[in-house]
Amino acid sequence: MKKLFVTKPLPGKVMERLKDSFDITVNEENRHLSREEIIEGVKGKDGLVSLLTDPIDSTIMDAEPNLKIIANYAVGFNNIDLKAATDRNILVTNTPGVLDETTADLAFTLLCAAARRIHEGEKFLRSGSWDGWGPLQFLGQDIHKRTLGIVGLGRIGKEVARRGNKGFCMPILYADPRKNEEFERMTGAKHVDIRELFMKADFVSLHCPLNDKTHHLVNRELIDLMKPTAILINTARGPVVDEKALVQALREKKIFAAALDVFEHEPKISEELLALDNAIMVPHIGSASIDTRTRMGDLVIQNLEYAFRGERPPFLVNKEAWKSQE
Ligand code: GLV
Ligand code: GLV
Repeated sequence: MKKLFVTKPLPGKVMERLKDSFDITVNEENRHLSREEIIEGVKGKDGLVSLLTDPIDSTIMDAEPNLKIIANYAVGFNNIDLKAATDRNILVTNTPGVLDETTADLAFTLLCAAARRIHEGEKFLRSGSWDGWGPLQFLGQDIHKRTLGIVGLGRIGKEVARRGNKGFCMPILYADPRKNEEFERMTGAKHVDIRELFMKADFVSLHCPLNDKTHHLVNRELIDLMKPTAILINTARGPVVDEKALVQALREKKIFAAALDVFEHEPKISEELLALDNAIMVPHIGSASIDTRTRMGDLVIQNLEYAFRGERPPFLVNKEAWKSQE
C-alpha cells in the first residue's frame, strides 16, 4: 500500500475510503501543523494530502525524495509552490468542478445577507433591544433587477451569475480575460473592463484565482469607482482585495457593505474589520457542505489512485511535471 500523510482529518466517509486504499498517517489532533511538522510527516511517504491552509514549499518537498504527488483538498492551489513541485517532478492536483455550485450558493447567500443587513438585524434582535416594527429599521438594498458584476467568469462565477439572472432577474456584467459568447447568449451578460464593472454594478462578486496578476486587484482606485449603494462579495481569496483600502471605504461609507468569506491574513482578521457593522464575515466556508466536502475527498482519492497507477491524474495542475514522466 502506498503511504500518505494527511495534514488534517477529512470528512468521515473520505477517511474510510482513504484507509481502504492507502496506508495513511493523519494529524488526528486536527490542529494547524507547522512547516516542521509537515516535513516530519512526509518523510517516508509516497503522497501528501494538503489543505489550502498548508503552505507547501520546496523544503517540504525535499524532505522526501520519493514524494510523487501533492493532492490538495481544494480547487485553489496558491498554497503550493508549483514551480518547485514541477522542478522535482512532483504531481500537484486539485478538486475542481464539484464545489462550484456550493460556493456559488454561499456567494449568493452572502450577497443577500449583506444587502438586507441580516447580520445586523440578528445581532440586534438577540440583544433584546427590539421594541417593535419601525419604518426606519435596518433599511437595506434591493437585490432583484439590480446589476450583478462578476469578476472572473470561471465555473463558480458562472453559477453565481446564473442564480442572479434566473432567480432575481439581475442584469449581468462580467470582467474576464476572455469573452464568452455562449454565456452572453444564455444570460444577456455583457463583457466589460473591470473599471466599468466597478462603476456600474450594484453587487461585485469576486471569482478569480489568486496569482501574481490578481493580488490586490481590487485596490483603492477600483473601490473608489463603486456606487455608495454597492456591495462587494469575496468568496475567492483574501489577497485579491487590498483589505486596508476596503476597510477605509467601509468606514467612510463610500460603499454600502462587504460580504467576506476570505481574508487577506486569514485566520487573522483585522480589528478594524471586526469593528465594522457594514461587513458580514464568515470563516472561509465556501465549499462547506457535507456532500461537497465528501465529493472533494473523492477527487483527492481519484487523483492519488491514478498517480500511483502511473496514469495521469484527472485533475493535474502542473502538466509539465507529467510530461517529464512520460
Ligand atoms: C476553497 O477555497 C478551495 O479552494 O477549495
Ligand atoms: C474555479 O473553480 C473556477 O473556475 O471558477
